[in-house]
Amino acid sequence: MPVTVVVGAQWGDEGKAKVIDLLSKEHGYVVRYQGGHNAGHTVVVGDERYALQLIPSGILYDHVVPVIGNGVVVDMVTLFNEIDTLERRGISCARLIVSSHAHLIFPWHQAWDAHAEAGRGDDKIGTTLKGIGPAYADKARRVGIRAGEVLDASAFAISLKDRATAENVALAAAGATVLDVDAIVEQFTVLAARLAPYVGDTVSELHDALAAGHQLLLEGAQATFLDLDHGTYPYVTSSNPTSGGACVGTGLGPRDIDRIVGITKAYTTRVGSGPFPTELLDELGEKLVDIGREFGTVTGRRRRPGWIDCVMLRQAVRLNSLTELALTKLDVFDTFEQVRVCVGYRVGGTTLRHYPDRIELLADVEPVYIDMPGWNQSLAAVREPGQLPAQAQDFLRLVEREVGVPIRIVGVGAERDDYLLWS
Ligand code: GDP
Ligand code: IMO
Ligand code: MG
Repeated sequence: MPVTVVVGAQWGDEGKAKVIDLLSKEHGYVVRYQGGHNAGHTVVVGDERYALQLIPSGILYDHVVPVIGNGVVVDMVTLFNEIDTLERRGISCARLIVSSHAHLIFPWHQAWDAHAEAGRGDDKIGTTLKGIGPAYADKARRVGIRAGEVLDASAFAISLKDRATAENVALAAAGATVLDVDAIVEQFTVLAARLAPYVGDTVSELHDALAAGHQLLLEGAQATFLDLDHGTYPYVTSSNPTSGGACVGTGLGPRDIDRIVGITKAYTTRVGSGPFPTELLDELGEKLVDIGREFGTVTGRRRRPGWIDCVMLRQAVRLNSLTELALTKLDVFDTFEQVRVCVGYRVGGTTLRHYPDRIELLADVEPVYIDMPGWNQSLAAVREPGQLPAQAQDFLRLVEREVGVPIRIVGVGAERDDYLLWS
């Protein structure tokens, strides 16, 4: 399988990084294809916990070439903090390649993000305030600054000063917080010089790697239902996490891709605003947050909890051409008397099996559940499918039947080795 895509099948934080770390063993390149430092990807190795935002989750293996693809928006401050932190812990980032076509994030993007959120009052999207939406907006307006521009230091300095000055005028006119242009120019000129050696032609690099017989792993950030086109708009991110975005964001073509792994939790979480049909607002939800430690890796925000939703997962299969699922956090249900699986939405006297086109309907749908008994025992030591209690096996079979693709990897704990191959 030369090219594999890993994509979140829900609203993010499904455990993509853990699965990517696992699959990295057999891949030569790990490539982030969209998003930016709004992502928080956690890998746990023994007592060490790595929280990655921009660096691909394959970084922990020496043999992996980590690549930041053209579809990513790069905040240099975060990138170099991350590199410094990893290198202090003995993980070399020298192999990293950043696409010359990736767009850069600057402080005015964060200022605009904060201003837009403040202006929305009660209708806040609940963004990460990292400037992601404004950076992609600049890309679409064709005024963005790309990583390749740092290779010409004097042209970059002019363009940086021009943009910072113009943005400051616009921020002042909008009544937003203004910036210190000179300080920005000074800081980002230094960062740009540091970025230059990492910048490269990643499209050629990846095609050459493929031709040379390497296996490539394309790492999605965020998730299917945060996709700008297919998610719960406007409560989405500003890029395309769905597998089509993996082609656009790397320069590989659709026919290069062989395997597409959708990651789902055994339940569902969401951070920020927006509809959530299976949301749990009661003490069971609190229990999920508590045992699943459902607090954001980046912002520390509490994630909203709910039951697994096969209507969403069926749609994720369609939108991404998923060939399989990886289901994480099955262990979080170890002490639950009962678990529920949403298999349809009841609305206006009918039952929908497929995700509605009108997102507004999601506020009114009533989930149809199949209730399953819990297993009341720890899955922590389970490494073989046959060791799983019958109730956990029934749960996995029900999800597979309802969603229509096999589950291959099952997570039973946060650590690197806490998983089993189910099929
Ligand atoms: P990502 O954004 O999809 O990479 O996911 P995050 O790293 O933001 O959040 C997933 C969290 O669940 C992290 O804290 C992981 O360490 C943890 N995790 C991943 N898989 C499992 C699992 O199977 N069981 C448990 N208990 N935790 C897991
Ligand atoms: P990973 O890769 C969960 C959410 C934000 C907000 C919306 C828009 O760790 O799964 P943005 O800052 O992107 O404009 O915010 O998207 N969001 C995430 N939720 N996991 C993420 O990343 C997310 N990245 C963005 O909470 O609702
Ligand atoms: Mg995350």
